[in-house]
Amino acid sequence: MSQAQNIIALDKKHVWHHLTQHKVFEKSDPVVFVEGKGCRVKDVNGREYLDAVSGGVWTVNVGYGCERIVKAVSDQMMKLNYFANSYGNIPTIRFSEKLISLMPGMNRVYLSNSGSEANEKAFKIVRQIGELKHGGKKTKVMYRYRDYHGTTITCLSACGQFERKNQYGPFTPGFVEFPDCSAYRAGLENDPDAGVKFARKFEEALQKEDPDTVGGVIIEPITAGGGVIVPPDGYMETMGEICKKYGVLLIIDEVVCGVGRTGKWFGYQHWNVKPDIVTMAKGVASGYAPISCTVTTEEVFQDFINDPADRDAYFRDISTFGGCTSGPVAGLENIRIIEDEHLLDNVVSQGAYLLDGLEELKEKYEIIGDVRGKGLFVGLELVKNRDTREPADESKAAALCGACMKEGVIIGRTSRSFRDLNNTVCMAPALISTRGDMDEILRALDKGLQTL
Ligand SMILES: Cc1ncc(COP(=O)(O)O)c(C=O)c1O
Repeated sequence: MSQAQNIIALDKKHVWHHLTQHKVFEKSDPVVFVEGKGCRVKDVNGREYLDAVSGGVWTVNVGYGCERIVKAVSDQMMKLNYFANSYGNIPTIRFSEKLISLMPGMNRVYLSNSGSEANEKAFKIVRQIGELKHGGKKTKVMYRYRDYHGTTITCLSACGQFERKNQYGPFTPGFVEFPDCSAYRAGLENDPDAGVKFARKFEEALQKEDPDTVGGVIIEPITAGGGVIVPPDGYMETMGEICKKYGVLLIIDEVVCGVGRTGKWFGYQHWNVKPDIVTMAKGVASGYAPISCTVTTEEVFQDFINDPADRDAYFRDISTFGGCTSGPVAGLENIRIIEDEHLLDNVVSQGAYLLDGLEELKEKYEIIGDVRGKGLFVGLELVKNRDTREPADESKAAALCGACMKEGVIIGRTSRSFRDLNNTVCMAPALISTRGDMDEILRALDKGLQTL
């Protein structure tokens, strides 16, 4: 048995992979990665791939083998690796100051270690403000169909992807769904009022639920795993206005879009909207250390400044690994790299080139119903029939991913989120990607689409 075969055999024997039906490994092998540099990764058999999904789930934004981050983390590890965040530490202070400088209107940073956890904090903040300010009312949170906010039972309670929720109930009460904003699915791509119309659907759902009972709403700036859905113009602004009108806190989940992915520091910054709470994780430190943030306005924070004699009236929450200094030190260096290397500009130009190329592929292949995205976050929605827009079966998206993998390019897809709408393939290459990388992705897709 070769060393590679041995490693794969051990993986099959002991590792439980995420989102995976292990029965498939009776007839196939898992891909085991061993190293990466820039946008490329190598597997245990020595095969190299262009990673067009930044570590599978849109995380390694500044690429693999980034010496600046590794050095910053390593130096900090020798100085002080950890102390609980009920105390202060230098990396958390420096990182928070820098992050806030990129988020006008926001002022406080709460650290934890996964996107799910960051969203859990946001839900706890809403519930506790409901108790502290609204006499126990306004504790419900509304969430949007097709959005995803994490894997814990409460994040799944706020999940707009019903297939992900199957068999994991009962769920946390107090979470209410409202309709999505997919212009393509609603046939409203050419309607200039589509954004406002979709936001009014939220208002209707809010009124039906009783605004006096609702304290927050959570949305992704661009629905990511649910199909790369960019909201039509006017949507975010109107959502902001509705939240203000009814005293509902607007939580924006930037776990995917945050820190550069869409060509702005944050996805919501493409529109004129003021969130109350912003959560982020994945790209914050490009996967060099686990870190997530729940960022709030000073106004939200001030709701927790109360008489110390009141035993309940402060945010009684802790995240043990929110005190690891590797996260903020890597996060700060990550931001500096994006600034120093002008990566936001690169995201805008490479993203526009990629979208153009995908539009050309759409001309060529009937199976592509819609092309959409922002910056280096793009999706192709596959259909059986362009006129009726009947979604393609998820096996087509899977086959396209498989074909691209054979061409040496890793792309992603909606994965078992909805029964009928697992039909979008997506790409989110690293922010450092070059024109050559874009061409390679487009070439692999072109070849893959020929096989469908
Ligand atoms: C939009 C969004 N929010 C939250 C999460 C949860 O993040 P984590 O897996 O770090 O808990 C994800 C994960 O994919 C996500 O896409």
